[in-house]
Amino acid sequence: MLAIKNLNVQVLNQEILKNFNLNIQDGEIHALMGPNGVGKSTVCKAIMKSPEYEITNGTITFQDQQINHLNTDEISKLGIYYISQNPTTIEGVSNAEMLRMAMNARREEQLNIFEFNKKCNEICEKINLPKSFLHRAINDGMSGGEKKKNELLHLWMLEPKLILLDELDSGLDIDALKIVSASIMEYYQEKKPSILIITHHNQILEEIKPDWVHILKNGHIIKSGDKSLAHEIEKNGFKDYL
Ligand SMILES: Nc1ncnc2c1ncn2[C@@H]1O[C@H](COP(=O)(O)OP(=O)(O)O)[C@@H](O)[C@H]1O
Ligand SMILES: [Mg+2]
Repeated sequence: MLAIKNLNVQVLNQEILKNFNLNIQDGEIHALMGPNGVGKSTVCKAIMKSPEYEITNGTITFQDQQINHLNTDEISKLGIYYISQNPTTIEGVSNAEMLRMAMNARREEQLNIFEFNKKCNEICEKINLPKSFLHRAINDGMSGGEKKKNELLHLWMLEPKLILLDELDSGLDIDALKIVSASIMEYYQEKKPSILIITHHNQILEEIKPDWVHILKNGHIIKSGDKSLAHEIEKNGFKDYL
């Protein structure tokens, strides 16, 4: 699904990722862990081709297509969805407007408005989101928890094949985290996407169970293991890896 090879990434001329390698197969869940500021979000932003993140070496391949020369819009259309730590607010553009445009951009024929509305309503019911949210500006004036639920709406509507979850737990209380994680796992069971999840906390990995756990240090993965590695970090912190 995703192959990152020998990736170097610079932000403001500072090298953040160096010789970074990661392979995610179809339907696998990978967790990326590491202390603050080590470059975890940079991995997601490089995949999405965020403009400040300059790829100076290496390749990113998604479903056998090299994507590091594409722009964010093209990458998103291929089926990668990034839920960032702080989802962006877009004033003046409603969820429904954006989703309709995005869904039409992903298909040959224009989506029938009745079909679109039906799907919106079904998804709102499924994720327990008030239908009034469809007509609200994207993430505008929403609480931390509402923003993440709003991202779920986008996820279920756009049906990505690879999901990047960057500190999904930030801004969520324990109950909201359970609801959002459960919805992501329901999506996982139904559509079998691949998932890259970035977190400091083990708790979320009890909900979204990773096949692999990786530790990032000095710009690349220094250790990989199964879920027991996350338990070990919870017990001892990152001190053994600093
Ligand atoms: N847009 C940016 N401008 C300046 N520095 C940045 C930017 N993005 C990331 N950095 C720097 O790159 C390093 C890695 O950041 P990040 O990937 O966000 O870390 P993590 O997600 O692991 O906490 C940090 O030192 C951070 O300050
Ligand atoms: Mg981060």
